[in-house]
Amino acid sequence: MRQPIIAANWKMHKLNSEAVAFAESFLPLVQDSDAAEIVLAPPFTALSSLGSALAGSSVQLAAQNVYPEESGAFTAEISPPMLVDLGCRYTLVGHSERRALFGEQDDFIARKALALLEVGIRPIVCVGETLEEREAGRIEDVVGGQLQGSLASIPAGTTSEIVIAYEPVWAIGTGKTATPEMAQEVHGFIRKELSTRFGEGSEEIRIQYGGSVKPENIADLMDQPDIDGALVGGASLDPVSFAKVARLQRS
Ligand code: 13P
Repeated sequence: MRQPIIAANWKMHKLNSEAVAFAESFLPLVQDSDAAEIVLAPPFTALSSLGSALAGSSVQLAAQNVYPEESGAFTAEISPPMLVDLGCRYTLVGHSERRALFGEQDDFIARKALALLEVGIRPIVCVGETLEEREAGRIEDVVGGQLQGSLASIPAGTTSEIVIAYEPVWAIGTGKTATPEMAQEVHGFIRKELSTRFGEGSEEIRIQYGGSVKPENIADLMDQPDIDGALVGGASLDPVSFAKVARLQRS
């Protein structure tokens, strides 16, 4: 049985004071809920203050990115041990905004995922097709290729430690959600690919859906057999709205 996982990706939003204020409003709203494991990914600059605000709660801290070296002359980059030091349990890798705006490729993403596993941080590996690719009938080709490339260096036996986020690029920040059936179709395909790659262990891997997830659609998405959670952007910025999503509440 896979435990649902609901993660907030705050992207480039929230100052330290705003992150702490979010935690103060949010924690009482979810403290009696064990519907899902809850993860918050603030910008790097708010990791420390948010981590302190979350101390003693079961809400986990995540980073949005990492550089796959332990230390060295890599100006402005953040290493896996630095994220451990701040209490991160998860880290996003390969988000479509990193792929599209910063030219990140699968082999670089694979190095990040491995570097995180080596320090005991769980990578959330993001994949997803653009509208153009979907309309050209290339979903399996694109998502299959991203999975294969991004998971290339993941050792067998670590399947309980990795999370996949399927985020169709056309559904991100657009208000257009894939229908639960459309999402399930790709999640089913991802599960099949993971099974080829990892065998039985693939059943342990949680696959999140991302793209305009909100309180109004979370329950229907979660009804699908291969949707194990969500990676939430816009609706995660407000504590009340994200608490509803995290409680998997039908609204
Ligand atoms: P939205 O929920 O704003 O569509 O963003 C999704 C996303 O990119 C999460 O990583």
